Amino acid sequence: GRVLSVASECVPLVKTGGLADVVGALPAALTGQGWEMRVLLPAYKSLRGRLKAMTPVLEEPELWGGTGRVFHGQLDGLSVYLLDAAHLFDRDGGPYAGHGGDWADNVQRFAALSWVAARMAREGVAGWKPDVLHAHDWQAGLAPAYLRYHGAGGVTSVLTIHNIAFQGWAPASALTDLRLPAAEFHPGALEYYGNLSTLKAGLVTADRITTVSPNYAAELMRPEFGMGLQGVIAARAGVVSGILNGVDEALWSPEAAAHPYSVGKLKGKALNRAALCAEFGLEVPGPLAILVSRLTDQKGIDLLPAAIPGFVAAGGGLVVLGSGDAGLEAAMRGLAVAHPGRVAVRIGYDEALSHRMFAGGDAVLVPSRFEPCGLTQMYGLRFGTVPVVSSVGGLADTVINVSPAALASGAATGVVFQPVDALALAQALARLGALYRDAKVWTSVQKAAMRQPVGWQGSAAAYAGLYAGMAG
Ligand code: ADP
Ligand code: GLC
Repeated sequence: GRVLSVASECVPLVKTGGLADVVGALPAALTGQGWEMRVLLPAYKSLRGRLKAMTPVLEEPELWGGTGRVFHGQLDGLSVYLLDAAHLFDRDGGPYAGHGGDWADNVQRFAALSWVAARMAREGVAGWKPDVLHAHDWQAGLAPAYLRYHGAGGVTSVLTIHNIAFQGWAPASALTDLRLPAAEFHPGALEYYGNLSTLKAGLVTADRITTVSPNYAAELMRPEFGMGLQGVIAARAGVVSGILNGVDEALWSPEAAAHPYSVGKLKGKALNRAALCAEFGLEVPGPLAILVSRLTDQKGIDLLPAAIPGFVAAGGGLVVLGSGDAGLEAAMRGLAVAHPGRVAVRIGYDEALSHRMFAGGDAVLVPSRFEPCGLTQMYGLRFGTVPVVSSVGGLADTVINVSPAALASGAATGVVFQPVDALALAQALARLGALYRDAKVWTSVQKAAMRQPVGWQGSAAAYAGLYAGMAG
């Protein structure tokens, strides 16, 4: 079968977070399952250089103030469609924001992407017609709506929620401009607290809804996690499922570290640790923790200033890589200043450094308030870099806590804590320190972590099953 995947990010072409990793990994993962997936993305300024090696396949004359042209080609091993609409996407900055913050016309920009996606799915493009349209997050939320309200052409749709915090809000007055039917502006369909939300529009019109872990699928139906959409999702519970993300095991492999290592030959890990300490001028007698993250409220970064001093006093160390909220960046810098030789902070985005950190760290911290799936705890498992995670979303689905029973049976892969507050994090770090001091137990947890499957195998089969059920 054939799937058209529609998203705003895709590794290695454009990335701000885990969404890109997943959209970029799915096509290869699905090939083995007999599904051909092609990806439709906006031709952002950074991607326009690739257009000349691609073939024009479709023109859309009236796309929110200009013409859109779709190009197709093979880019970095992916079969990609790029939507070239200079008036919407040829801008300096990231996918969603320029130097002055979020683009004011974001809803229109991604409505355009969704409009073209629906048309490609409905009509087919250059002889290629998908069976399923797979939309990701609010940016593609209108694609299922356009299929529903403007004709589906036999195509079914699935919407995946990667992060419900972003909902694509627009005023009710935007209804007509967004090419949505006025008759559907009621709470059972498009109306959302008096306004519009492209995510809600997708949730009420898609044939299936998925999210990126089974636990988050259940959490989303509760007010603490649903962020206003819990009722909408609960009402569709029969078509909602949670499919865990995988990680690209070739890209994230301890065998590819500067000092390669594996579950059977852990020795190299100590050399990577020494190199990481040398790089940052650290000397750490206890566990060396790492954190690689967007610095936002979601990630629980604000819990660190209260929890880290005790951890450091007990011998621990920390390397932070991230960027985001200015206040959190300042708080992280403050930690480094307060604990020279023990805490190092790099503000920025650095893929290569993140690899060195996973190879060299003893533990990876993920103290999130909510986490649909989370990828860094899975990189931690893969590298024997023991995850210390809050008990939410996909974190709870992927890490087995070091309870006495789990330790005794050899199942434990990390430290899981709740509630999500500084005291619980501090206690989790104390437990980590105690584990680390017992070399035998520590090694057994590391090995259990490294043996835990985190690849795409199982989840690709789950997606294939989902598509097959929809197409049939
Ligand atoms: P989210 O998508 O919510 O940000 P995930 O854990 O799913 O969280 O994915 C985050 C991805 O972004 C991971 O691949 C992580 O390694 C990467 N990442 C986040 N911040 C940085 C950074 N500053 N430098 C390098 N990689 C980063
Ligand atoms: C989101 C979530 C993260 C998830 C990623 C990929 O950005 O915050 O938990 O892993 O999407 O699905």
